[in-house]
Amino acid sequence: MAHTVHIEPFDIDISAEDNASLAEIVNGLGIDFPCGGKGLCGNCHIELVKGTMEISAREKALLERKGLDSSRWRLACCGRITDDIVIRIPVREQVILTDDSSSRLYGEDGLAAAVDLGSTTIVVQLIDRKNGAVLESFSEINGQNVFGADIISRIAYALQGPEYSERLALTVREQVGRMAGDAVKASGRDDIRNVTIVGNSVMHHLFCKLDVTPLSAYPFLSPYNGRMEFTPSELGWNLPETCTVRFMQNISHFVGSDILAGILHTGIHRKDRWCALLDLGTNGEIVIGNRERILCTSTAAGPAFEGVNIVNGMRAVSGAVCRIDETSGKAEIIGNTRPSGICGSGLIDAIHYFLKTGRITPDGRIADDSPGRLEIAGGVALYDRDIREFQLAKAAVATGFELLMKHLGISLTDIDKIYIAGGLGNYIDISKARETGLIKAIGNSQIVKAGNSALAGCKEMTFSASDREIEAILPLVSHYSLETDPDFQDRYCENLFF
Ligand code: FES
Repeated sequence: MAHTVHIEPFDIDISAEDNASLAEIVNGLGIDFPCGGKGLCGNCHIELVKGTMEISAREKALLERKGLDSSRWRLACCGRITDDIVIRIPVREQVILTDDSSSRLYGEDGLAAAVDLGSTTIVVQLIDRKNGAVLESFSEINGQNVFGADIISRIAYALQGPEYSERLALTVREQVGRMAGDAVKASGRDDIRNVTIVGNSVMHHLFCKLDVTPLSAYPFLSPYNGRMEFTPSELGWNLPETCTVRFMQNISHFVGSDILAGILHTGIHRKDRWCALLDLGTNGEIVIGNRERILCTSTAAGPAFEGVNIVNGMRAVSGAVCRIDETSGKAEIIGNTRPSGICGSGLIDAIHYFLKTGRITPDGRIADDSPGRLEIAGGVALYDRDIREFQLAKAAVATGFELLMKHLGISLTDIDKIYIAGGLGNYIDISKARETGLIKAIGNSQIVKAGNSALAGCKEMTFSASDREIEAILPLVSHYSLETDPDFQDRYCENLFF
């Protein structure tokens, strides 16, 4: 028996089989699944306006802990459709970092689409290759979110069987194809020459339907790191068949083409002096190089900066605490609304503030008599285990950075610029990131916020003129495995302290 799900505020009706998953129905409509749909974080709440939907005691408790009336609210990841229902999705202001600058390259014919395929967000931009201008820009939450909040849980999901990896591939292929198609349609032109995609190595494997088993266990070496090409019809996309779709090559296992694009855009491979590129996400990717040599690594930083595994964690959407005033301790909330959680930049600020006021000790314990929590605003708090998650993440990043420098035989004073890439890098307070030990730098002037360097580099990659430059970068780059470094354990333990 089928049921109708009416979704507000979009005013759409979806027909659902009896017992269908609500998460799959609302996926892609702006709902966030920070804990990967495990029913742990309570942040995927939707309002049940009409009809019935069962609720478990655990779901009820979680909703009530968030101050939400369980007679009216449900968790999308727990819901099953057993009735005709009307639901309302809370519209949240999304903060997705794009890059509206024109490409450095120009003078080629036709249109191209540049795609930054992140684990959390997807940005598609349509470029006029004649002048390098951005014609259209679309960004959305990655629809795979409902199957796992971070790349580790996506790998685990894919490994359950071929139909699971197929579902992940189809979800993201359909989403990127739709976004690229919409962008072309909006431009009123049809002369698109290529769609160029960059992303981390897990997104590369999942999109291209490559086996992720090698990425799931030591030594994490995948034989499938190359550039992959498709025709639109192979992907089921509604684009001219003369358009080439390319997923750019990974630099190594766990260092993907998003970092290759970052190198291309920041021009590290053209610099005389050493420069670094730091991308903070589930995997903290670190690159240090110059025109002669580029060394890169990835650290298991964990998804703490994306709000995952943080008790009140959430992405940078409305309701998230994103800043804390240094003096007053007052929280700034995205969208100026009721606080419902804390995002990556808010987490760094909170740790910094409580360290400065002596409420967190240098070894990461809560110094107060308070029972393992520090109130931030409106019921949003920092817990013991959040501090631990932050310590693990910052120790991983700081140790990776130190060991790359050691391997190159250089020190911080030899580094001219440290480019911080990505959404978090763009919003963090650099001084606080330094003072908590997350970013190693001599002073703030050494640090450059590079914005969405993956997208900016990807736009350059849509031009055939960039091919030669990419060919020049690749032989310079080598990967350094931190786990083989004899100093790793000692440095990591030391970097856990504040
Ligand atoms: S509770 Fe649904 S995603 Fe976390």
